[in-house]
Amino acid sequence: MARTLIANGTVVTATDQVSADVLIADEKVVALATPGSHDWSADQTIDASGKYVIPGGIDVHTHMELPFGGTFASDTFETGSRAAAWGGTTTIVDFAVQAKGQGVMEGFETWMEKAAGNCAIDYGFHMIVGDVNEQSLKEMDAVMGEGVTSFKLFMAYPGVFYSNDGEIFRAMQKASEIGATIMMHAENGIAIDVLVEQALQRGETDPVNHGLVRKSILEGEATHRAIKLAELAGSPLYIVHMSALEALEEVTIARDQGLDVFAETCPQYLFLGLDDLGNGFEGAKYVASPPLRDWEAGHQEELWRGLRSNDLQAVSTDHCPFCMDEFDGLIAQKRLGEGDFSKIPNGMPGVEPRLELMYEGGVAQGRISLNRWVEICSTAPAKMFGLYPQKGAVAPGSDADIVIFDPNKSRVISVDNQHMRVDYSAYEGTEVSGSVDTVLSRGRVVVANGEYHGETGHGRYLPRGHNQYVL
Ligand code: URP
Ligand code: ZN
Ligand code: ZN
Repeated sequence: MARTLIANGTVVTATDQVSADVLIADEKVVALATPGSHDWSADQTIDASGKYVIPGGIDVHTHMELPFGGTFASDTFETGSRAAAWGGTTTIVDFAVQAKGQGVMEGFETWMEKAAGNCAIDYGFHMIVGDVNEQSLKEMDAVMGEGVTSFKLFMAYPGVFYSNDGEIFRAMQKASEIGATIMMHAENGIAIDVLVEQALQRGETDPVNHGLVRKSILEGEATHRAIKLAELAGSPLYIVHMSALEALEEVTIARDQGLDVFAETCPQYLFLGLDDLGNGFEGAKYVASPPLRDWEAGHQEELWRGLRSNDLQAVSTDHCPFCMDEFDGLIAQKRLGEGDFSKIPNGMPGVEPRLELMYEGGVAQGRISLNRWVEICSTAPAKMFGLYPQKGAVAPGSDADIVIFDPNKSRVISVDNQHMRVDYSAYEGTEVSGSVDTVLSRGRVVVANGEYHGETGHGRYLPRGHNQYVL
């Protein structure tokens, strides 16, 4: 058995902060002990003095290779999972896609093939149900058997992934029957499309209009509707990529009523705003749905409040990068929407800087505690999607997915030092006061001393259990 000792660090979990040495045997954490209180020997010792030892980050919302807007998200499972590892994320849960006219199982198998042998870190799948019908409802059972316990539906993107209320309700009934969680993209896509048409007819074609037509009230409305349908159907509901205070208000009310309603937000909705969508076509870099919101209206601070108060449970990235210009053999993907903002592929890169951004905006700037940082970036996502305590913990028996985080080593986020396969950083020039130092995935060092030691194919598929917040 290969033994690794992480010595002299401060182990920070969702609940505790203790000085402890961590002993790893092969792929698992086997023991924790006070430094100096044991005589453990190891094949390698990593000194973590002055640093935090935390469970590896878990990003439960990524889209490697997602087909969207006539192109594909630019990160493959290979490049995207490697970039995730660089940033201290050791598990991703990506979205397999059932396209219109396809089977659910067929979509799952296609995505399994895309990922197999290509990931640097462990990975699981949610299932996008893009065509709710009798057969898909039956196949939800079958993919549950493969460890896919969450299904994403869309109230947005009519003609692509969109489901109407009846279809949503049917899928929620099915989820309730089989113990699955429904994930919802909650924006009223039908009303948004009317506003898109009207804007284009007025000649308003720049990227900023993406933010102007996708009104926050329409995110609030869709969130309310999703909650009511889920309440009636009896299914747990997880609202993805929440950006609007109106939506958070709905989730807060539902949670106060004791409903199994949960939600995540993403760093882009905490750090960026509608202004970023301005500046001519440069704003295309920031086109994602829901859109970045107006700072003046207070969405960002309200989302931070939600994270503090547990009205929001997790921070994921919705990583879905598209290049601005030709890059690494890819076309200028965002430019597909030059002259028509509605044709800009929706999505932004973010899987790499999540942990550092959340440390900076959350812990360093005094908005959340160190424990809460670990909870929203790792432990809660693990529990929400049936991976705890294999993932999301530093405890005997857990996978040795560990990040050593240096709270005193600042760095500047830039396209020049990132590893995502995309030609810009949405956070260019942002200084973070702490940074990822060392990353282990199932006991194997994948990042150390600014170097990558990971291996394509090391990552394994993770069949997942039920939502652990639901009784
Ligand atoms: O703009 C986004 N969010 N692109 C990815 C697809 C989705 O809706 O999550
Ligand atoms: Zn979405
Ligand atoms: Zn997404």
